[in-house]
Amino acid sequence: MRGQLTFQYTLLFSIILLIAAGLLFGILHWIIYWNIDNELQDEANRVKQYVQILHHKPQLALNSARASAEQINSLNTIFRLAQVSDAQGQLIKQSPVLSMLGFSLRPSQLKHILVERPNFYSWGAPRSEEIRFANAIIYGPQGHPYLLQIGTRLKPINDALDTFLWVLLMLLPVTIVLSAAGGSVMAARTLKPVADMTHAAQSITATNLGRRLPTRGRGDELDELAETFNAMFARLEESFQRMREFSANVSHELRTPLQAMQGETELALVSQPSMAEYRRVLESNLEEIDRLNRMIRNLLVLAQADAGEVQPRLELIDLNELVRDLVEQMQIVASARELQLRTFTSAPTPVRADSLRLRQMVLNLIDNALKYTPAGGWVEVRVERRHSAAQVQVRDSGIGISQEDLPHIFERFYRADKSRTRDGRADGCGLGLPIVKWVAEIHGGSVEVSSLPGQGSSFLVRLPLAGAA
Ligand SMILES: Nc1ncnc2c1ncn2[C@@H]1O[C@H](COP(=O)(O)OP(=O)(O)O)[C@@H](O)[C@H]1O
Ligand SMILES: [Mg+2]
Repeated sequence: MRGQLTFQYTLLFSIILLIAAGLLFGILHWIIYWNIDNELQDEANRVKQYVQILHHKPQLALNSARASAEQINSLNTIFRLAQVSDAQGQLIKQSPVLSMLGFSLRPSQLKHILVERPNFYSWGAPRSEEIRFANAIIYGPQGHPYLLQIGTRLKPINDALDTFLWVLLMLLPVTIVLSAAGGSVMAARTLKPVADMTHAAQSITATNLGRRLPTRGRGDELDELAETFNAMFARLEESFQRMREFSANVSHELRTPLQAMQGETELALVSQPSMAEYRRVLESNLEEIDRLNRMIRNLLVLAQADAGEVQPRLELIDLNELVRDLVEQMQIVASARELQLRTFTSAPTPVRADSLRLRQMVLNLIDNALKYTPAGGWVEVRVERRHSAAQVQVRDSGIGISQEDLPHIFERFYRADKSRTRDGRADGCGLGLPIVKWVAEIHGGSVEVSSLPGQGSSFLVRLPLAGAA
């Protein structure tokens, strides 16, 4: 990139420089020639006043005693480069320098000038001796026109212009080399932060995701890039962290029931238990196996959810019916725990959903409500239509959730109070609510919770009403 930037910069700079040099030279050339022509014209007009044609010969009409400096100047010119010719193109007077320079025009050329009367005439080859003339017409006593030409040598000016052009051409490569060097340095300076960032990024691996790319605090594009990367690293770090915690949690949750089973089984093997004792051990093991089974099923669901593999099989379902059905199922559990389980359903509430997942979601909510409500309390499940949303609300008069726990309860393996759930009755492992949230979300819905410790909790799931969209 550095080479490319330098090349592009130098190329652009060279083109601009060339154009500028060409323009500069052209303008200079034009101004000088314009000045020369102007001056020649003035000169010719002035000299014209002092020249008379008498007897077919140009004469100076000048009182030398009263000649002004200007007049003397004009005379100088006349003696340098001037000539007079008649209407036939016959040269009748020429200053010696002109003849020495070998200046001569054919009568036809002179006649042509006299007829056409251009203001100026150039003679000679541009690179060697070149003379520029201003033309003026003088009239003789009979009114015959004569051609007066006042000239100047262009050689010194052409030489100077040539030299100037040479200097320009010599300077060009030098300037281009300098600009390339400057461009290279500039490109390197501009790209330095990118190189720094590359080095920093290379040193970041899975084990030190806490590192960040340096920003220079200028708020420019590169800082923005670094910040974007840093945000990405932060997200990566967070998900790595979550993965680590997740593995730790899974291991822990799997180990606990396995250890319990191992302990009981070993004990049963060394002591010689009665048939009833065997039965008890097997029953207890079955319970643990059941728990493990449920946990692994839930883990599988969440793993599939993470992989984005599960496409909900959508069908038209009446939410009322589904809820009524589930509540009926759970009545046995509720009465066993001495809880009142009520349901309030309303007008048909159709949703387009995967019925298995939806059942699981509502079941998880009812299960929690029953689990975290002490005997004598109540749980109520309400289905409602609100505008374009179908709502399921599961409320209980239970122990509630504290302010610190509330933001975390949808996290995997999060359980508000570990000790409280150890009593065997509350046998979940913190995967119920994450599944609730996921099911709500894959159906385009959401779940909200509000709770007061000691007074109860309320979970509200919103789903899009079928046909509403
Ligand atoms: N209805 C509720 N009343 C009080 N606490 C609840 C209720 N529902 C969930 N919680 C809290 O949220 C935590 C996470 O719930 P969940 O993911 O279903 O896990 P589990 O039920 O296995 O403990 C529970 O451990 C409990 O602390
Ligand atoms: Mg639960």
